[in-house]
Parts: sequence; structure tokens; C-alpha cells
Amino acid sequence: MAVGIFDSGLGGLTVWEAVTARLPEVPFVYYGDNAHAPYGVRDAADIFALTCRGVERLWDEGCDLVILACNTASAVALKKMQETWVPKHKRVLGVFVPMIEALTERQWGDNSPPREVAVKHVALFATPATVSSRAFQRELAFRAIGVDVEAQPCGGVVDAIEAGDMILAEALVRSHVEALLRRMPNPEAAVLGCTHYPLLEHVFQDALGPKVSVYSQPRLVAESLADYLARRPEFLGPGTQRRLLTTGDPKKVGAKATQFLKRAMTFEAAFPEA
Ligand code: DGL
Repeated sequence: MAVGIFDSGLGGLTVWEAVTARLPEVPFVYYGDNAHAPYGVRDAADIFALTCRGVERLWDEGCDLVILACNTASAVALKKMQETWVPKHKRVLGVFVPMIEALTERQWGDNSPPREVAVKHVALFATPATVSSRAFQRELAFRAIGVDVEAQPCGGVVDAIEAGDMILAEALVRSHVEALLRRMPNPEAAVLGCTHYPLLEHVFQDALGPKVSVYSQPRLVAESLADYLARRPEFLGPGTQRRLLTTGDPKKVGAKATQFLKRAMTFEAAFPEA
């Protein structure tokens, strides 16, 4: 009954932590493509190919359902994967929609026409690829009208986190928040549209000030996954093993993951023969 969690690197661990806490009986298999992170500066064809490779590896682990705990892959590759690549008996789901449903106060599957919502000014922080895809604005427009979105491509933040340089990552977050506030001085809500950013959520909140509600994905994705599996239990795959896989150096990745989540995290090579 395994479920796969995919990310370009360490960021998806924020989602992994929330889903393992919410669904402790489900063996989750994590795949971090650390050898190829960051995805946020790659082109669409590259992101599509790397994401498909990771998802296939998770299918090999008996995960019929894979969560792309990566906004960049969700924004750039997911639609094409669902339309052209994912077989009928498997599912690949992204992390955008649960967050937009929370922001627009909608229930899952509510396909009614877009309507006015309470939040009018939204700051979006994401990778350069996610921002230029405009996937967030597209998904939001299906559900809400009259919402002004100001997006900040947060270059360098994922690289700094992957390198374990949290001082640089914090400085970059503060300068990206400043840049956005110059263009939109009073957002009501801020969306952390990259799964690496919850590792710095307190820095975003501090830089934005206490009046801004910060929407972070891990808890929202965990709730939405629990709801999905209750309705579609057939997508719990045949796998039984919890595993943490990486395309990078398992020792180094494990050490950084342990530092971030403050518990022992042991990674294995995703492709040991390579
Ligand atoms: N955690 C990924 C995301 O949510 C980071 C993407 C990257 O590797 O740049 O977008």
C-alpha cells in the first residue's frame, strides 16, 4: 500500500514529514533527484524527462500513486504527464491545487464557476520556472476572480538550501521579500510555492510582517492526500517498504535531511547500478 513522494531534492521532505505524520500506516517512498537539483532553472523538456524518470522509479517501488512534492515539476511537467504519459491504472498528482483550494476556500472537486474570494492581493514566492509557467495564476483563475497575484522568482534559494547554506538562503529570502513588497506593499496572503521554502517559513513570515497569512503546502497537501485516499483506496500501490531514495550521494543527502528535519534520515541510492 505504498505511496511515492517525488522532489528535485530536499524540499519535498517538508511534504514527506507532513504526510507521514498524517498517515502513519502508509509506507511512503521518497525520491529526491538531488543530482539534478535545482529544477527551477531548467527548461520544460528537461524537467519533464527528469520527473518521468523519478516517477517511473517510484512505480518500481510499488507506488501506483505519486505526489509531485515539487511545484516546479507540478507547474511545468504535470499537465503533459497526465495527458500523454501516465497509464490509466496509475496516478500522479501535484501540490498546487490543494493550496489554491485553501486560498479560495473551496472543497475538493468543487467545479463551480470562479467567484469572488476574501483575499484580493496575493504574493507568490516560487522558483523562476514556476513563476514563468504562470500555472499558479492559471489554476487560480479557474476558481477565483478579482485576485491580484504578484510573483517573485526566488533565484538562488533552492541552491543555497541544497548546499546546506542556510545563512545565504535566509539573506536571499529577505531580499526577495523586499523586492516583492516594493511592487505590492500590502499583500493579505503569501504563498510559498516551492516545497523547499517551508524550511524558511519563519524567515518569510518575519520579513513579511505579522499581518500577512503565509500559506505553506505540507499540511494542506497531507490533508488533501488523506481525503483522496479515503475516496480512492485502490491507488494505494502494492509496495510495502518505506524508503528514502536519492540520485545524489546518499550519505551527504542523509546528513542534510537529518539536519533539516532534526531526526535520523537514512538515504539509499535510487540507481545503485549507475
Ligand atoms: N522543491 C522544488 C519546488 O517545489 C524546488 C524546485 C527546484 O529544484 O528548483 O519547486
